[in-house]
Amino acid sequence: MNLLGSLFSSSIGRKFLMAATGLVLFGFVTGHLVGNLQIFAAPEKINAYGHLLESLGAGLWAVRAFLLACLIVHVWMAVVLTLENRAARPESYGVDQVNRATLASRIMARTGLVVLAFIVYHLLHFTVRLQHPEWSQHTYALHDGTMVRDVYRMVVQGFSSIGVSTFYLIAVGLLSYHLAHGISSMFQTFGLKNGNWTRGLERFAAVYCWAYFLLNALIPLSVLGYVPVLSGLIQR
Ligand code: HEM
Repeated sequence: MNLLGSLFSSSIGRKFLMAATGLVLFGFVTGHLVGNLQIFAAPEKINAYGHLLESLGAGLWAVRAFLLACLIVHVWMAVVLTLENRAARPESYGVDQVNRATLASRIMARTGLVVLAFIVYHLLHFTVRLQHPEWSQHTYALHDGTMVRDVYRMVVQGFSSIGVSTFYLIAVGLLSYHLAHGISSMFQTFGLKNGNWTRGLERFAAVYCWAYFLLNALIPLSVLGYVPVLSGLIQR
């Protein structure tokens, strides 16, 4: 059997695939957040960035296909491992065992499902622009005269709706909670969680997840005008 086949067919291989694809998705959400924070600079910044990504053409599609494959494998392995764990669980599931597992670890499947639903919604909202086809027509002139799509205006108009922003805040909160346990599990699977490192890695996961949530939340909250200093930077 080839390496990939043996990864899919053994329990430890499935855990490894889950951790490896989780690491790729973690890299994507971190990079995406850094890109999105350009909303606090002049519109030129995020619009030039969006244009640069679009100009990658086939390269961008290759990255998208790879990310989609990682997401599919991550969800698939999550379902298989959850079913395996359930089947292996003894009848009299001890109260002690339940207490020892953190809330984040016990609700991984549920937070994961909400994040999945959020991704579908988000793609329909900003990428397909189902509800607002006019967003595809809004253009912006960069300093060198190049006409590009006005991503800045789309994000500001998108988050001007309190309902949309509330959903984003809930989804990003659950994603951060999902990452809190995910990062820690990933370190365990990669064998990094041993004596000396454990505390530092746990602390990194907690700080990362709080920072991830707060920085993401600043975007809709600033557009809605709830963060005086940053809201002043948003051009309407
Ligand atoms: C406040 C937070 C966020 C903002 C402002 C934001 C903004 C955007 C924008 C502007 C796009 C590009 C749409 C386009 O022009 O094609 C996009 C795409 C995307 N976003 Fe977000 N996003 C946020 C949070 C997230 C989160 C938390 C996730 C992951 C769970 C995510 C996943 C994606 C994906 C998968 C794409 C498609 C990328 C592609 O097709 O190349 N976003 N987002």
